[in-house]
Amino acid sequence: MSLPAVVPAPVSIETGSGAPFRLTSATTVTGETDAAAALSAIVGARTALALADGDGDGDGIELRIDTGTGGPESYRIVADEASVSVTGADAAGLFYGVQTLSQIIARDEQGWTVPAVTIDDSPRFAYRGVMLDVARHFHPVETVKGYIDRAASLKLNALHLHLTDDQGWRIHLDSRPELTEKASATSVGGDLGGFYTKADFREIVEYAASRHMIVVPEIDMPGHTHAVGLAYPELAEDPTLSDHMREIIRDYGGEEPRAGSPYDGMAVGFSSLKIHDEATYDFVADVFGELAAMTPGPYLHFGGDESLSTTDEDFAVFVARASAIIADLGKTPVAWHEAGAAADVADTTVGQYWGFLTPQEGAAEKATAFIDNGAQLILSPADAIYLDMKYPSGPELGLTWANGPTSVERAYSWEPSDVVPGVDDAGILGVEAPLWTETIRTSADIDTMAFPRAAAAAEAAWSPATGASELRTWASFRERVGALGPLWTSMGIGFHPSDEIPWATE
Ligand code: ACM
Repeated sequence: MSLPAVVPAPVSIETGSGAPFRLTSATTVTGETDAAAALSAIVGARTALALADGDGDGDGIELRIDTGTGGPESYRIVADEASVSVTGADAAGLFYGVQTLSQIIARDEQGWTVPAVTIDDSPRFAYRGVMLDVARHFHPVETVKGYIDRAASLKLNALHLHLTDDQGWRIHLDSRPELTEKASATSVGGDLGGFYTKADFREIVEYAASRHMIVVPEIDMPGHTHAVGLAYPELAEDPTLSDHMREIIRDYGGEEPRAGSPYDGMAVGFSSLKIHDEATYDFVADVFGELAAMTPGPYLHFGGDESLSTTDEDFAVFVARASAIIADLGKTPVAWHEAGAAADVADTTVGQYWGFLTPQEGAAEKATAFIDNGAQLILSPADAIYLDMKYPSGPELGLTWANGPTSVERAYSWEPSDVVPGVDDAGILGVEAPLWTETIRTSADIDTMAFPRAAAAAEAAWSPATGASELRTWASFRERVGALGPLWTSMGIGFHPSDEIPWATE
């Protein structure tokens, strides 16, 4: 019998020789109530069966936490004809066991089953993320919650929100109310903007926590700050346009950026905060101070990418000060890898590598600087797991700058320890798949671009290294991810039905 399809691939999965467990209208679930509610919701959507509360007599599904059983976020599933037990080493592990259980539910001639199986599983990397850009197009709270559900089902545990960019400021801050009053109304292409109130942000953070995810807020600086200038003109330099930026504007349309007017085009690199003005650092302290108080997770991201109109010297000054402000708030700064060029970046700063699978133009050296400081890297190789890259065939959505269209196979076929030379598992905090939204306007657009490729990123983040498991091959992944089609449909995920994948219809 072939192995049940689990994505991301588990550490160990063995099928038993016995008959499967049968899920019926009499099946009961016992144990942790949050996990039972999560399982009941998925099983209900997938099978239309309502699981009843059990009495713990050992003949239904049992969901337990046993802190002695393994490392953080790990779980074990044992299923046979008589019973199914899911044991998490902690609440997150139990939640992930429930996700795996929901994936292996199958149907035969007599009804729904859980195959006889033993699964032992734990994550490779502690940080497993997706990023959603809510600045280029604003996405409402309900869309973000839906993305949290989808990501959590793949055992991802971090939602990075790119909250600000040239095109808009999307988080209300009491200390700087003009940001959302004056700089949130529009999105790319003249579309409507929007922003999160503090209550909205709290709702997102709490919803994420209920799915064992942290929220990593990003305020991108010192570039990507044209919107700041709409609210606080005294903090921002006038836009600077290079020939390359003019080329982008020619290719993608839109007006040239002008000081004091909202920008709704797709050019990057033309904006900068004023580096040698103390008012800038009062602003940075206000913004991150308020965000730190709103963010229970350990990370605050200060961007640092594509500051193309800031000199290298000024960039280094800014990065040192912004990272120190965040570190002094008791948070761990995160920055895109360019910030590694700043000699005095705070030592605890985590770098986020967004170069290609084969690093170019000094990207590896900048990324390695974070390791030399004693910190780690989050890997987001753009030509593999930038979820906004076009598919080779399929929807017109997306961009192509990261080595052309990105197939599901390319999103899958890379090994984290092979990306930045000299950086192995000890230097890697985790893997994150960003979704930039220049062309992405709706939750349906997000689904199409993220699924199935977010599953490839999740496997890089959670599963054993390529070569360490016979499941960690493209041939295995395409079969396993194809088997999830009906589950994803029952969850309302409008995935791209890529012709690279043999999609199951039931
Ligand atoms: C980036 O894609 N500019 C981080």
